[in-house]
Amino acid sequence: MQTDWIIEHLQRCLLRDGQATLGQQLYRLLREAIRSQQLKGGTALPASRALAQALQVGRNTVLAAYDQLLAEGYLHSKQGAGTFVSEVFAQQSAHTPLTMPHAGLSQRGQQLTAQCRLPTGLTGAFAPGLPELQQFPHHTWQRLQQVRSKQAPAHWWHYQQQGGLPELRQAVCDYLQLSRSVRCQPEHILIVQGAQQALELTARLLSDAGDCAWMEDPGYVGAQAALQAAGLQLTPVAVDDEGLNPAAAPADSTPRLIYITPSHQYPSGVVMSLQRRLELLQLAETCNSWIIEDDYDSEFRYDAQPIASLQGLASSERVIYVGTFSKVMFPALRLGYLVIPPALIDSFRAAYARLYREGSYAQQAALADFIEQGYFARHIRRMRELYRIRQQLLRHTLDHALGTALPLSAGQAGMHLVARLPAHVDDQQLSSLAAREQLWLRPLSGHYLQQPQQNGLVLGYAGVEETLIRQSALRLAQLLEPML
Ligand SMILES: Cc1ncc(COP(=O)(O)O)c(C=O)c1O
Repeated sequence: MQTDWIIEHLQRCLLRDGQATLGQQLYRLLREAIRSQQLKGGTALPASRALAQALQVGRNTVLAAYDQLLAEGYLHSKQGAGTFVSEVFAQQSAHTPLTMPHAGLSQRGQQLTAQCRLPTGLTGAFAPGLPELQQFPHHTWQRLQQVRSKQAPAHWWHYQQQGGLPELRQAVCDYLQLSRSVRCQPEHILIVQGAQQALELTARLLSDAGDCAWMEDPGYVGAQAALQAAGLQLTPVAVDDEGLNPAAAPADSTPRLIYITPSHQYPSGVVMSLQRRLELLQLAETCNSWIIEDDYDSEFRYDAQPIASLQGLASSERVIYVGTFSKVMFPALRLGYLVIPPALIDSFRAAYARLYREGSYAQQAALADFIEQGYFARHIRRMRELYRIRQQLLRHTLDHALGTALPLSAGQAGMHLVARLPAHVDDQQLSSLAAREQLWLRPLSGHYLQQPQQNGLVLGYAGVEETLIRQSALRLAQLLEPML
């Protein structure tokens, strides 16, 4: 059935106008059908001879297109059984814009979609950034939500404009003061739908199109997307072992925004040194810049007490602090927060209500209860211990199999490790190869804005169960061994 569909689809779409070769068209049409999931994972492709006959093209043309798709991981072959669509895209939303920029898109739209080069939404070994969800106290969470929904006053079902439910802002404020040494009052906090929205709002309110933003390089692609979508010109600034290094920025560059992850640089894992923090604060003062501090996973620190926030160190009001519940609760909750300098809070609140609308107070109330009744702190404590064990397991398994041939990041914190690869190992190719076996290796080179300085793999372990960590790490070692 699917075979008939493929043949008919290709017969309909192949153009013989001499513009693009038949081989190129065949490759592109099949690739698009796989990416859009019109061709589902596991589907058998027609035999090359039969397809060549049906399309009236040479068999080598079909074989070349199949080979290219095999090499890129879209297809896999089983000896004696044929060629099949790989499962890589099966776990992705059918609407994830992974396709080539579409002609109807604006320039900004094209830029944004062209950069969706790292698949998201995958789970399993070693998808980064995902917390353990099986061990989340779902029952307690549902109970708290039910209670708060039942008791919700009528006005909670309307649009809101208080910058978030006051009870939740109070709970977040207490938590940030105590755990992150953030200087704040509940009225300086704005509850938003995750860090991504916080970044977008901040970029829109504090910069104009064409302004310069300094980005850590390598850095977080979500932040790159949010700032680029706001029309900012991104200036990559190299990260060294003290964090973003201002001396590596072009001498004539004056940033309007500086995006940093000082507690645990994403993805390298580096903690920004005190000296660098002070240097950056001074620079922001001199250049009239705003620093966006993304404190996304600092709760998971394994060697000592959490590193205090940069915002807490600042004597001036130049830092916009961003936090998220995606890692400590679960990503689909879509709740995060900003701590905003007092002079800006009214503008942020008003703009937030105007741009995005505000609501979901019953859920926010349940979260405030979850924090105040101690479930939040308990869950973080449990997860910290679990992630520490999982990281050790991943490290030991890889160390045992490959030793010093595969250097790993220090891993004092967070939910992933970075494995550094020698320059001759193409991390993108390796990642396509591994994806055929449901092994998700996020290539480090994909996190650079400029020429990648280091090939490597970002290996998430937090949401991966121990048996799978061990099996997948061994398989990764087998794949890597002949390459190192
Ligand atoms: C560096 C960084 N910041 C923020 C986030 C969280 O974003 P959100 O709150 O939008 O889920 C992530 C998630 O992967 C991240 O890696």
